[in-house]
Amino acid sequence: MERTRIILDVDTGVDDALAILYALRSPGLDVLGITTCFGNVDVDRATRNTLAVVELCGLDVPVYRGAERPILREWTGPVPWIHGEDGLGNTALPAPRRRAESQEAASFLREAIRRHPGEVALVPVARLTNVARAFLFDPELPRLVRGVVFMGGAAFCPGNVTAVAEANVWGDPEAAEIVLQSGAPLTMVGLDVTMRARLEAHELDRLNPALPHAALVRDAVSFYMNAYEETQGVRGRWCPLHDPLAVAVAEDPTLCTTRPYPVRISCDGATAGMTVVDARPHADKEPNVAVCVDVDVDRFLGRFRERLGMS
Ligand code: RIB
Ligand code: CA
Repeated sequence: MERTRIILDVDTGVDDALAILYALRSPGLDVLGITTCFGNVDVDRATRNTLAVVELCGLDVPVYRGAERPILREWTGPVPWIHGEDGLGNTALPAPRRRAESQEAASFLREAIRRHPGEVALVPVARLTNVARAFLFDPELPRLVRGVVFMGGAAFCPGNVTAVAEANVWGDPEAAEIVLQSGAPLTMVGLDVTMRARLEAHELDRLNPALPHAALVRDAVSFYMNAYEETQGVRGRWCPLHDPLAVAVAEDPTLCTTRPYPVRISCDGATAGMTVVDARPHADKEPNVAVCVDVDVDRFLGRFRERLGMS
Protein backbone atom coordinates (compact mmCIF):
# COMPACT_ATOMS: atom_id res chain seq x y z
CA MET A 1 0.00 0.00 0.00
CA GLU A 2 1.31 3.47 -0.88
CA ARG A 3 1.67 5.50 2.29
CA THR A 4 0.97 9.24 2.43
CA ARG A 5 3.89 11.23 3.77
CA ILE A 6 2.71 13.59 6.46
CA ILE A 7 4.10 16.01 9.00
CA LEU A 8 1.91 16.42 12.05
CA ASP A 9 1.95 19.76 13.87
CA VAL A 10 0.70 19.62 17.46
CA ASP A 11 0.19 21.47 20.75
CA THR A 12 -0.06 18.25 22.81
CA GLY A 13 -2.88 18.37 24.48
CA VAL A 14 -5.15 15.35 25.12
CA ASP A 15 -6.71 15.18 21.65
CA ASP A 16 -3.31 15.86 20.07
CA ALA A 17 -1.96 12.81 21.93
CA LEU A 18 -4.79 10.75 20.42
CA ALA A 19 -3.95 12.18 16.99
CA ILE A 20 -0.29 11.23 17.39
CA LEU A 21 -1.24 7.67 18.38
CA TYR A 22 -3.65 7.47 15.44
CA ALA A 23 -1.04 8.72 12.97
CA LEU A 24 1.79 6.52 14.21
CA ARG A 25 -0.42 3.43 14.20
CA SER A 26 -1.92 4.07 10.72
CA PRO A 27 -0.67 1.77 7.96
CA GLY A 28 -1.54 4.39 5.33
CA LEU A 29 0.62 7.14 6.81
CA ASP A 30 4.36 7.73 6.82
CA VAL A 31 5.00 10.31 9.56
CA LEU A 32 8.20 12.13 8.55
CA GLY A 33 8.30 14.18 11.72
CA ILE A 34 6.19 15.99 14.29
CA THR A 35 6.47 19.73 14.89
CA THR A 36 5.29 21.42 18.08
CA CYS A 37 3.65 24.73 18.87
CA PHE A 38 2.30 26.71 21.84
CA GLY A 39 -1.45 26.41 22.34
CA ASN A 40 -3.07 24.01 24.79
CA VAL A 41 0.23 24.23 26.71
CA ASP A 42 3.50 26.12 26.22
CA VAL A 43 5.76 24.89 23.44
CA ASP A 44 8.25 23.20 25.79
CA ARG A 45 5.49 21.23 27.46
CA ALA A 46 3.99 20.41 24.03
CA THR A 47 7.40 19.13 22.89
CA ARG A 48 7.92 17.05 26.02
CA ASN A 49 4.42 15.56 25.81
CA THR A 50 4.89 14.77 22.13
CA LEU A 51 8.20 13.00 22.75
CA ALA A 52 6.63 11.03 25.61
CA VAL A 53 3.69 9.88 23.46
CA VAL A 54 5.99 8.92 20.57
CA GLU A 55 8.09 6.92 23.03
CA LEU A 56 5.01 5.05 24.24
CA CYS A 57 4.62 3.82 20.66
CA GLY A 58 8.19 2.51 20.76
CA LEU A 59 9.12 4.68 17.77
CA ASP A 60 11.80 7.30 17.20
CA VAL A 61 9.97 9.65 14.87
CA PRO A 62 11.79 13.00 15.10
CA VAL A 63 10.16 15.87 16.98
CA TYR A 64 10.93 19.53 16.20
CA ARG A 65 10.22 22.37 18.62
CA GLY A 66 8.38 25.27 17.00
CA ALA A 67 6.76 28.60 17.79
CA GLU A 68 6.38 29.81 21.35
CA ARG A 69 3.95 32.62 20.53
CA PRO A 70 1.71 33.90 17.74
CA ILE A 71 3.18 35.80 14.80
CA LEU A 72 1.95 39.26 15.88
CA ARG A 73 0.24 38.84 19.24
CA GLU A 74 1.06 37.82 22.76
CA TRP A 75 0.16 34.25 23.72
CA THR A 76 -2.82 34.21 26.10
CA GLY A 77 -1.54 31.15 28.03
CA PRO A 78 -2.40 27.46 28.47
CA VAL A 79 -5.85 25.96 29.11
CA PRO A 80 -5.38 23.63 32.12
CA TRP A 81 -9.13 23.49 32.70
CA ILE A 82 -9.42 21.52 29.41
CA HIS A 83 -6.14 19.59 29.15
CA GLY A 84 -4.84 19.56 32.74
CA GLU A 85 -1.78 21.24 34.25
CA ASP A 86 0.51 18.88 32.32
CA GLY A 87 -1.53 19.03 29.11
CA LEU A 88 -2.30 15.32 29.35
CA GLY A 89 -5.12 15.35 31.89
CA ASN A 90 -2.73 15.32 34.90
CA THR A 91 -1.61 11.78 34.10
CA ALA A 92 2.03 12.48 35.02
CA LEU A 93 3.43 10.56 32.07
CA PRO A 94 7.13 9.81 32.71
CA ALA A 95 9.59 12.28 31.18
CA PRO A 96 10.77 11.20 27.74
CA ARG A 97 14.28 9.84 27.32
CA ARG A 98 14.78 11.40 23.90
CA ARG A 99 15.09 15.10 23.18
CA ALA A 100 13.77 17.22 20.35
CA GLU A 101 15.92 17.68 17.26
CA SER A 102 18.07 20.81 17.22
CA GLN A 103 16.50 22.03 13.95
CA GLU A 104 13.62 24.46 14.39
CA ALA A 105 10.13 23.38 13.22
CA ALA A 106 9.65 25.85 10.33
CA SER A 107 13.10 25.02 8.97
CA PHE A 108 12.33 21.27 9.12
CA LEU A 109 9.00 21.86 7.33
CA ARG A 110 10.82 23.66 4.54
CA GLU A 111 13.52 21.02 4.20
CA ALA A 112 11.10 18.08 4.20
CA ILE A 113 8.72 19.68 1.67
CA ARG A 114 11.60 20.53 -0.66
CA ARG A 115 13.06 17.03 -0.32
CA HIS A 116 9.74 15.46 -1.45
CA PRO A 117 8.08 18.03 -3.74
CA GLY A 118 4.34 17.43 -4.22
CA GLU A 119 4.31 14.54 -1.76
CA VAL A 120 4.13 15.88 1.79
CA ALA A 121 0.76 16.61 3.41
CA LEU A 122 0.92 18.93 6.39
CA VAL A 123 -1.52 18.11 9.18
CA PRO A 124 -1.58 21.02 11.65
CA VAL A 125 -3.85 20.36 14.63
CA ALA A 126 -2.65 23.43 16.53
CA ARG A 127 -2.26 27.12 15.79
CA LEU A 128 -1.09 27.56 12.19
CA THR A 129 1.97 29.52 13.33
CA ASN A 130 4.66 27.01 12.28
CA VAL A 131 3.15 26.49 8.84
CA ALA A 132 2.73 30.25 8.31
CA ARG A 133 6.33 30.86 9.35
CA ALA A 134 7.57 28.21 6.92
CA PHE A 135 5.46 29.73 4.11
CA LEU A 136 6.75 33.23 4.88
CA PHE A 137 10.31 31.92 4.96
CA ASP A 138 9.95 30.15 1.60
CA PRO A 139 7.00 31.41 -0.49
CA GLU A 140 7.33 28.51 -2.95
CA LEU A 141 6.33 25.96 -0.33
CA PRO A 142 2.54 26.34 -0.81
CA ARG A 143 2.83 24.99 -4.36
CA LEU A 144 5.24 22.24 -3.31
CA VAL A 145 3.04 20.68 -0.61
CA ARG A 146 0.63 17.89 -1.40
CA GLY A 147 -1.87 19.68 0.80
CA VAL A 148 -2.61 21.10 4.22
CA VAL A 149 -5.31 19.26 6.18
CA PHE A 150 -5.85 21.41 9.25
CA MET A 151 -8.02 21.04 12.34
CA GLY A 152 -9.49 24.45 12.89
CA GLY A 153 -12.29 26.86 12.20
CA ALA A 154 -16.05 26.81 12.43
CA ALA A 155 -17.81 27.29 9.10
CA PHE A 156 -21.54 26.97 9.82
CA CYS A 157 -21.56 26.37 13.58
CA PRO A 158 -20.60 28.28 16.75
CA GLY A 159 -17.00 28.68 17.85
CA ASN A 160 -15.51 27.17 21.00
CA VAL A 161 -13.49 30.14 22.32
CA THR A 162 -15.78 32.96 21.27
CA ALA A 163 -19.21 32.90 19.69
CA VAL A 164 -17.59 32.61 16.26
CA ALA A 165 -13.97 31.48 16.74
CA GLU A 166 -12.41 28.05 17.11
CA ALA A 167 -9.29 27.77 19.31
CA ASN A 168 -6.63 26.94 16.70
CA VAL A 169 -7.64 29.86 14.48
CA TRP A 170 -8.41 32.25 17.33
CA GLY A 171 -4.99 31.55 18.88
CA ASP A 172 -3.12 33.02 15.89
CA PRO A 173 -5.54 34.47 13.34
CA GLU A 174 -2.81 36.22 11.32
CA ALA A 175 -1.01 32.90 10.85
CA ALA A 176 -4.26 31.25 9.77
CA GLU A 177 -4.91 34.02 7.23
CA ILE A 178 -1.38 33.64 5.81
CA VAL A 179 -1.93 29.91 5.31
CA LEU A 180 -5.44 30.33 3.92
CA GLN A 181 -4.37 32.86 1.30
CA SER A 182 -1.14 31.01 0.42
CA GLY A 183 -2.48 29.09 -2.57
CA ALA A 184 -1.73 25.69 -0.98
CA PRO A 185 -4.44 23.02 -1.40
CA LEU A 186 -6.33 23.27 1.90
CA THR A 187 -8.81 21.04 3.69
CA MET A 188 -10.50 22.49 6.76
CA VAL A 189 -11.53 19.97 9.39
CA GLY A 190 -13.44 22.34 11.64
CA LEU A 191 -15.91 22.15 14.49
CA ASP A 192 -18.70 21.49 11.96
CA VAL A 193 -17.43 17.91 11.77
CA THR A 194 -15.19 17.41 14.81
CA MET A 195 -18.03 18.13 17.26
CA ARG A 196 -19.91 15.26 15.63
CA ALA A 197 -16.99 12.84 15.99
CA ARG A 198 -17.87 11.86 19.55
CA LEU A 199 -16.09 9.33 21.69
CA GLU A 200 -18.38 8.08 24.44
CA ALA A 201 -17.04 7.07 27.85
CA HIS A 202 -18.07 3.42 27.59
CA GLU A 203 -15.73 3.08 24.57
CA LEU A 204 -12.77 3.38 26.92
CA ASP A 205 -13.61 -0.09 28.29
CA ARG A 206 -12.78 -1.49 24.86
CA LEU A 207 -9.10 -0.47 25.09
CA ASN A 208 -6.71 -3.40 25.12
CA PRO A 209 -5.12 -2.96 28.60
CA ALA A 210 -1.90 -4.63 27.46
CA LEU A 211 -1.08 -1.79 25.07
CA PRO A 212 1.56 0.66 26.37
CA HIS A 213 -0.69 3.66 25.67
CA ALA A 214 -3.85 2.18 27.26
CA ALA A 215 -3.49 3.82 30.71
CA LEU A 216 -2.65 7.22 29.24
CA VAL A 217 -5.62 7.14 26.88
CA ARG A 218 -8.05 5.96 29.56
CA ASP A 219 -6.96 8.51 32.19
CA ALA A 220 -6.32 11.51 29.93
CA VAL A 221 -9.58 11.03 28.03
CA SER A 222 -11.54 10.66 31.30
CA PHE A 223 -10.15 14.02 32.43
CA TYR A 224 -10.98 15.55 29.04
CA MET A 225 -14.56 14.24 29.17
CA ASN A 226 -15.03 15.77 32.63
CA ALA A 227 -13.64 19.04 31.31
CA TYR A 228 -16.05 19.06 28.38
CA GLU A 229 -18.95 18.38 30.71
CA GLU A 230 -17.93 21.01 33.26
CA THR A 231 -16.70 23.82 31.01
CA GLN A 232 -17.97 23.28 27.46
CA GLY A 233 -21.66 22.68 28.03
CA VAL A 234 -21.48 19.06 26.88
CA ARG A 235 -24.23 16.84 28.30
CA GLY A 236 -23.32 13.24 29.07
CA ARG A 237 -19.94 11.52 29.10
CA TRP A 238 -18.33 12.10 25.72
CA CYS A 239 -15.66 14.19 24.09
CA PRO A 240 -15.07 15.37 20.54
CA LEU A 241 -12.15 13.79 18.65
CA HIS A 242 -10.97 17.04 17.02
CA ASP A 243 -7.36 16.28 16.16
CA PRO A 244 -7.68 12.54 15.37
CA LEU A 245 -10.34 13.36 12.77
CA ALA A 246 -7.92 15.63 10.88
CA VAL A 247 -5.33 12.84 10.80
CA ALA A 248 -7.99 10.37 9.68
CA VAL A 249 -9.01 12.69 6.81
CA ALA A 250 -5.36 13.08 5.76
CA GLU A 251 -5.17 9.30 5.47
CA ASP A 252 -8.63 8.80 3.96
CA PRO A 253 -10.35 11.91 2.58
CA THR A 254 -13.56 9.93 1.93
CA LEU A 255 -14.38 10.06 5.67
CA CYS A 256 -15.63 13.62 5.25
CA THR A 257 -17.69 15.39 2.59
CA THR A 258 -16.14 18.68 1.54
CA ARG A 259 -17.39 21.72 -0.33
CA PRO A 260 -15.12 24.34 -1.91
CA TYR A 261 -15.57 27.87 -0.55
CA PRO A 262 -13.69 31.15 -0.44
CA VAL A 263 -12.64 31.50 3.22
CA ARG A 264 -10.96 34.38 5.03
CA ILE A 265 -10.00 34.90 8.65
CA SER A 266 -11.18 37.86 10.66
CA CYS A 267 -8.26 39.32 12.62
CA ASP A 268 -10.01 42.12 14.51
CA GLY A 269 -12.52 42.96 17.17
CA ALA A 270 -15.37 40.76 18.32
CA THR A 271 -15.03 38.44 15.32
CA ALA A 272 -11.23 37.84 15.61
CA GLY A 273 -10.47 34.22 14.73
CA MET A 274 -13.68 33.71 12.78
CA THR A 275 -13.46 31.62 9.61
CA VAL A 276 -15.52 33.77 7.25
CA VAL A 277 -16.95 31.34 4.71
CA ASP A 278 -18.51 32.85 1.60
CA ALA A 279 -21.37 30.48 0.89
CA ARG A 280 -23.16 32.77 -1.54
CA PRO A 281 -23.94 31.09 -4.86
CA HIS A 282 -22.15 33.93 -6.66
CA ALA A 283 -19.23 34.55 -4.34
CA ASP A 284 -16.84 37.11 -5.80
CA LYS A 285 -13.67 35.10 -4.99
CA GLU A 286 -12.47 31.70 -6.15
CA PRO A 287 -12.70 28.93 -3.52
CA ASN A 288 -9.44 28.47 -1.59
CA VAL A 289 -10.53 25.83 0.95
CA ALA A 290 -12.26 22.44 0.81
CA VAL A 291 -14.43 22.79 3.90
CA CYS A 292 -15.54 19.58 5.63
CA VAL A 293 -19.31 19.81 6.00
CA ASP A 294 -20.20 16.23 6.90
CA VAL A 295 -18.47 13.21 8.44
CA ASP A 296 -19.16 9.50 8.27
CA VAL A 297 -19.08 9.13 12.05
CA ASP A 298 -19.48 5.34 12.18
CA ARG A 299 -16.69 4.71 9.70
CA PHE A 300 -14.41 7.19 11.47
CA LEU A 301 -15.08 5.71 14.91
CA GLY A 302 -14.40 2.24 13.50
CA ARG A 303 -11.02 3.46 12.25
CA PHE A 304 -10.32 5.21 15.54
CA ARG A 305 -10.98 2.00 17.50
CA GLU A 306 -8.78 0.00 15.14
CA ARG A 307 -5.89 2.47 15.34
CA LEU A 308 -6.04 2.90 19.11
CA GLY A 309 -6.44 -0.83 19.83
CA MET A 310 -10.05 -0.88 21.04
CA SER A 311 -11.93 -4.14 20.51
O1 RIB B 1 -10.58 23.63 18.95
C1 RIB B 1 -10.00 22.39 19.17
C2 RIB B 1 -8.51 22.46 18.91
O2 RIB B 1 -7.90 23.33 19.87
C3 RIB B 1 -7.79 21.14 19.09
O3 RIB B 1 -6.73 21.07 18.19
C4 RIB B 1 -7.30 21.20 20.51
O4 RIB B 1 -6.22 20.33 20.73
C5 RIB B 1 -6.90 22.65 20.61
O5 RIB B 1 -5.62 22.85 20.06
CA1 CA C 1 -4.51 20.51 19.12
